[in-house]
Amino acid sequence: MILLLSGSLRAGSTNEALLLTARAVAAEAGVRTLVYDGLGRLPHFNPDDDREPLPPAVTGLRAAIDAADGVLICTPEYAGSLPGAFKNLLDWTVGGTEICDKPVAWVNVAAPGRGRGAEATLRTVLGYTGAAVVEAACVRVPMVRGDVGEDGAVADPEIRRRVGDVLGLLVAAGAGAA
Ligand SMILES: Cc1cc2nc3c(=O)[nH]c(=O)nc-3n(C[C@H](O)[C@H](O)[C@H](O)COP(=O)(O)O)c2cc1C
Repeated sequence: MILLLSGSLRAGSTNEALLLTARAVAAEAGVRTLVYDGLGRLPHFNPDDDREPLPPAVTGLRAAIDAADGVLICTPEYAGSLPGAFKNLLDWTVGGTEICDKPVAWVNVAAPGRGRGAEATLRTVLGYTGAAVVEAACVRVPMVRGDVGEDGAVADPEIRRRVGDVLGLLVAAGAGAA
């Protein structure tokens, strides 16, 4: 199973749309995915709370990562970095060991020349978590709100082909790590 993590809480998010596209492309290829929907329910990270009994939302996040063969992240850039809510999610992964050595990739949907700060921060933070970044699967697939169809996914065949390539690399990395 590939876990799909969006860094945006916005209704109509382009990053979520890319992940819904990944879900559709994966289903066509017989690859199981799970769209994580708990971002907005995670408590603010506090080291004092990072012990048993963990907050239920954190248990759910860690279980989802643990069950995944790989993780695909799609996040916007806010103020030159990651959205606070998504950095908070990543902070919760540091104390758990679930993401350690887990194949992880990100797709950046920002316009060319934008979103570099989000990528740089992702690389730094994932480095601390011990995730196994699949470099070849970390790509830029620029898209805009107009690319998103009524089903919430992107129909453009070139975008779907590139998302399929990313999934293939993640699945291969997950099979190698298992
Ligand atoms: C508070 C805020 C800060 C932003 N800061 C940046 C930024 O530093 N760099 C950038 O390229 N885009 C920035 N953006 C634009 C978002 O990255 C862009 O709107 C993105 O498409 C939002 O993703 P979503 O559609 O998944 O919500 C910012 C947007 C907001 C709301």
